[in-house]
Amino acid sequence: MDIDYRCMLNIAKEASKNSYAPFSKFHVGACVMGASGNLYKGCNFENSSFGLTICAERCAIGNAISNGEKQILAVAIFSPESDECYPCGACRQVIYEFKGDFDTEIITEKDGNPKIDKISSLLPYGFKI
Ligand code: THU
Repeated sequence: MDIDYRCMLNIAKEASKNSYAPFSKFHVGACVMGASGNLYKGCNFENSSFGLTICAERCAIGNAISNGEKQILAVAIFSPESDECYPCGACRQVIYEFKGDFDTEIITEKDGNPKIDKISSLLPYGFKI
């Protein structure tokens, strides 16, 4: 499966415009590619009860799963507030759950160019039942 990294980053960038982040002012967008090749976007949305905040990656993964995806090939993440915005620890664990037969690719933007990592390098010895 060919992955268009720039296209996924552009979708993540578009999604970041919908971010609801009145507390942190840190806006994040994500784009997930499911095993079908379809793309799903998500953004972070915060809450007055801070612990209820949902990250962009988990929003996009929820979108993918609720559309029938079982495995995730790639996740692109973009924030206008940060060069090279990596998934937090909680999102790494959630990505790991759905890596399936793949070593999910994590796409960030560094100096305007896609940078690719694998979930196995961002979460070594990941936990899964
Ligand atoms: N955030 C994400 O959306 N993804 C990450 O991987 C890191 C953190 C969001 C959560 C919160 O709304 C804001 O960024 C600051 O932590």
